[in-house]
Amino acid sequence: MLKKYCFFALFFCFFLALLLFFVYQPHLGLKNVEEEKIALSLLYTGELAGELEPCGCSGSKLGGMLLRSAWVRELKKEESFLLVDGGYRAPKGDKQDKIKFVVHNEILHSLGYDCQFVSEGESISDKVSSPIFLGWGTLGKVWYKEKIFGKEKKLLFVAIEKERRPATEEIQDVLSKIMPDVVFVMTRGIDQNHRSYFPQGKYFTIFFPVDSQAPFSPIEVAPGVLVISAGNRGRYIGLLNLIFQWGKLPEWKSRIIGLEKKWENDPEVEKLLDRYKDQLQKERLLEFQIKRSSPVGFVGSDNCYECHKEEYNQWKTKTHAKAFETLVKEKHHYDPECVRCHTVGYEYEEGFRTVEETPHLIDVGCEECHGPGASHAINPVPGYGKTNAENACLPCHQKDRSPNFEYKKYREMIKHWKD
Ligand code: HEC
Ligand code: HEC
Ligand code: HEC
Ligand code: HEC
Repeated sequence: MLKKYCFFALFFCFFLALLLFFVYQPHLGLKNVEEEKIALSLLYTGELAGELEPCGCSGSKLGGMLLRSAWVRELKKEESFLLVDGGYRAPKGDKQDKIKFVVHNEILHSLGYDCQFVSEGESISDKVSSPIFLGWGTLGKVWYKEKIFGKEKKLLFVAIEKERRPATEEIQDVLSKIMPDVVFVMTRGIDQNHRSYFPQGKYFTIFFPVDSQAPFSPIEVAPGVLVISAGNRGRYIGLLNLIFQWGKLPEWKSRIIGLEKKWENDPEVEKLLDRYKDQLQKERLLEFQIKRSSPVGFVGSDNCYECHKEEYNQWKTKTHAKAFETLVKEKHHYDPECVRCHTVGYEYEEGFRTVEETPHLIDVGCEECHGPGASHAINPVPGYGKTNAENACLPCHQKDRSPNFEYKKYREMIKHWKD
């Protein structure tokens, strides 16, 4: 009888041990194999170069933080990512750039970004509440941040600037302290030094030159070393999945997405952008621009009507006469970055200032092409008004804003003169 109990107890123990073995060794068991494989998903966006929004001028509607936010929220529904951004990168470093830098940051925060590259000259102000900042390598400091993924794997974000050579020793110290499985290196540009700081073989290395202009699929420059890019100016998103397998280099797959309108706007980000436009108005940025003086003043197109009715009436039917209305619709009529091509003489003291102060100088008016007309309108002597042919158009009809511009064709379309 006792023997029989012993036998059952033994059998039970054996069964229990077997069960425990399978539960705690999932990669030997049958379940969870697929789940365990995909260990790290990254979503990366390149340097913004100041383009919070595409200008809306024809041909450049791709990208912008509004479209990005809609895409990021959609993609996050499918999969959970670590999010990395190449930074704002102030093109001018003026007051407007400082405002945009903060807005960009607030948007990243709202989208749940994990990490952002900060370029030289962009001070980390108190207004900024980004989750993680990585600066360029100032004063020989290496900026880094670690992140745990999977169960116990370590990802190390490192930021180094091209021109400044951060202390090699310091990088080695960080690497040996953290002992990462993956190192994600953000740089401006990429050179041989960058590669040599991170000896191959100990960890998987991803180089992310944040300023590279065109997006490309990841390039495996050596076993376990990838170079990635999502292009600059915020027009693309890159996705990278690393699939870890025991005893092997991780496998990877990737995707590049062009940011076209496909999803509903994100209301939260829309609100942040609207607040940005209000702020431009409140801080009266339009009025604080450095301007040249014009020897002759501007009178506005309505003052040409009296003597040039036909030309005026023709002009009135063209889109140049609605250029300011276009900005109002976009809520950008207090934005120095826009009004200069949608008004008359903004670069001159005597030209457009604000719609309240100079309502007669809105739109692409007569004097934008024919020159300031204050003296001609009083004393119309010959010699006034010769336009400088194609050169009169090009300051505004730039490749980016007007990709279909062809002088002959476009000139025909604005015809308001007799042959
Ligand atoms: C360098 C000059 C320039 C600047 C700066 C500029 N625009 Fe324009 N914009 C143009 C030109 C030129 C066109 C006409 C393009 C064409 O049709 O070929 C245009 C067209 C547009 C249109 C399209 C109008 C339509 O109905 O098709 C919108 C919208 C617009 N601009 C908004 C903006 C906004 C917003 C900004 C500032 C963020 C801005 N623009 C800054 C030159 C400029
Ligand atoms: C008081 C009437 C008057 C006003 C106001 C006036 N013009 Fe004129 N404009 C003339 C006369 C007259 C001529 C022809 C001068 C000549 O060739 O003898 C002329 C010539 C021109 C020419 C050259 C035409 C050519 O055939 O060479 C242009 C361009 C022009 N004006 C544009 C303007 C613009 C732009 C304004 C508004 C800023 C304006 N004018 C306001 C009377 C006026
Ligand atoms: C001060 C900036 C400026 C200058 C200079 C300028 N344009 Fe424009 N142009 C614009 C803007 C802004 C628009 C878009 C207006 C809108 O739709 O709101 C535009 C639109 C046009 C369009 C309409 C395009 C379309 O598809 O509807 C034509 C054509 C055009 N411009 C021709 C010319 C020509 C030709 C010249 C030179 C003789 C010229 N423009 C000079 C700013 C300018
Ligand atoms: C986008 C630029 C542009 C705008 C805005 C514009 N013009 Fe012109 N205008 C031209 C061009 C280009 C010609 C063709 C002659 C030349 O190349 O100088 C011309 C020709 C003329 C001529 C005949 C000149 C001649 O030599 O035969 C007059 C007059 C004139 N414009 C008046 C006006 C008036 C008035 C307005 C505003 C209501 C106006 N223009 C707005 C570009 C412009």
